[in-house]
Amino acid sequence: MTFGLDVLAELTRLSGVVVLATAVARGLLDGGPRNPFAFILPGTALLAVGCVLVLVATIAPIASRLEEPVLALALEYFQTTSHGPQLLTPILPAIYALLLAEGLRIADAPGFRRGLYWMLAATVVAMLALMAASGHVAVTEWDHIGMFLQIVHMAAAVAWVAIVLALLPRLWSGQPVAGELTRIGNVALALVIILIVTGIASAWLHGATLPWPLAEDYGRLLLLKTAALLLALAAAGWNRFIELPAAGVHETRVRSVLGFEAVVLLLALLLAAWLTRTPPP
Ligand code: HEM
Repeated sequence: MTFGLDVLAELTRLSGVVVLATAVARGLLDGGPRNPFAFILPGTALLAVGCVLVLVATIAPIASRLEEPVLALALEYFQTTSHGPQLLTPILPAIYALLLAEGLRIADAPGFRRGLYWMLAATVVAMLALMAASGHVAVTEWDHIGMFLQIVHMAAAVAWVAIVLALLPRLWSGQPVAGELTRIGNVALALVIILIVTGIASAWLHGATLPWPLAEDYGRLLLLKTAALLLALAAAGWNRFIELPAAGVHETRVRSVLGFEAVVLLLALLLAAWLTRTPPP
């Protein structure tokens, strides 16, 4: 299992989407930061840089085989194939996200701001759809169903990670998190169920059925992802069913478990980017 430039490139653009989704989660949870550009600008920059790196990383092995300059070949690939431009299309909704950020910077009415955050959420889903469209799913037999499953899977995953990351500022500033965790409990549970069902179905469409084919890199990465999911689920479940219902909520314990869940979910995202750049069986 090689962790090459292409995985780093995929992780960069996925991180950009997660930063934007975290801005949405903060906006819907507590009205969001006064200046949303603090999140949306780095998010769109990471996504744009990541998309260009994915294009370069896709061409790099061919360029080294042909002993040709990689940037010239990447430009030629962009100009002469349909896949080249497809790798950069997620940048388009990112530009729209910047316009929404400007709207959020000047808008005061809470209802209107909330509407803008839902528009930003739809923009994030559009980015995920365009990322999925240039991935493995496009070459599977059931590409349309596969695309739908992949987009729902990615949206559920990114939403879960964004909700947890949106609570971290509370963690660092010493504000209580137990109330917020109770408030979002059912949403998080629904996201996890959707994530597992669409993940297993998407793996099946890529030729990987349970038990995961451990002789293949793809199968081993799926196993690691499943382990990360179960660990994050155990942490979320511990807070939800043990700590939060307790008579006296132990805020410090709730916070360390939430911090642990955040770290495991970030690890799962790294594994997801790696899986997406690994050939399916
Ligand atoms: C039961 C556990 C899981 C299974 C079976 C699963 C399966 C899959 C499959 C088959 C893909 C498509 C890979 C490809 O293009 O070939 C995928 C992509 C993805 N998965 Fe999962 N997954 C699981 C858990 C998770 C978790 C816990 C997260 C994150 C919190 C996650 C986030 C993602 C993301 C973001 C992608 C798309 C990555 C990209 O395109 O950059 N998955 N997953």
